[in-house]
Amino acid sequence: MIPIKTAGEIEALRRSAALLVRTFRAVERAIRPGTATGELDAIAEQTIRQGGGSPAFKGYNGYPATVCVSIDEQVVHGIPGSRVIREGEIVSLDIGVNLEGFFSDAAKSYAIGEVSPEKKRLIEATRAALTDGIRECRPANRLSDISHAIQRSAERAGFSVVRELVGHGIGRAMHEEPQVPNFGAAHRGPRLQAGMVFAIEPMINIGSEKVRILEDGWTVVTEDGAPSAHFEHTVLITQDRPEILTAGMDGTFQEH
Ligand code: MF3
Ligand code: CO
Repeated sequence: MIPIKTAGEIEALRRSAALLVRTFRAVERAIRPGTATGELDAIAEQTIRQGGGSPAFKGYNGYPATVCVSIDEQVVHGIPGSRVIREGEIVSLDIGVNLEGFFSDAAKSYAIGEVSPEKKRLIEATRAALTDGIRECRPANRLSDISHAIQRSAERAGFSVVRELVGHGIGRAMHEEPQVPNFGAAHRGPRLQAGMVFAIEPMINIGSEKVRILEDGWTVVTEDGAPSAHFEHTVLITQDRPEILTAGMDGTFQEH
């Protein structure tokens, strides 16, 4: 069963997402060459706790940090620490907030200073793939219309879609039904209904779609070592346009 949120639950999710947006803005101010990934993690944790929330990822299946920081060929779930960010890298941040039992989840890839034209194209294509998926979030569509739109968007841009990790329902838990793959045929699966909330999160690679996990047991990297990007929003389906609960993550209010 895919939970349909009540008006009260939606209000609580909006508050959780607002704290997550604030957290991204705080962390963003420190993303530059010379910053250690562990510093970003500390800023995020402090912002979340000061806002009355707790980091949703910390302790989840034993994950040790607030933020997942994944650089270049790292796809997702990179563990922050002493590694220092360098010019030319793609740095992907994934953060989850639990505010009063309500979860929000978002991710964004950043170009650090001047990056190669190919990396720039990858970042923009991944952002666009998420936007194209979100556009399908309306009643009467089926779940896999989201998946299909993401895959089509990314592959038309000449990139590949990671298969092993998927988006998810979200609300009173970080992971609720359904799984939201980033690939597949259109018009399959349950019909979308107002009140459903999904974390949609394409992971897109320049080279092969294949990934593996590093010896730390967490970091997902591309098998061929080519760069990857990741964007994620928590999205509410309404009677008309989808409401991106985590919009405004970069302070511009029109991320998508
Ligand atoms: N956005 C990811 C997800 O929804 C983040 C989970 S990372 C973990 O699954 F550290 F919490 F596992
Ligand atoms: Co997620």
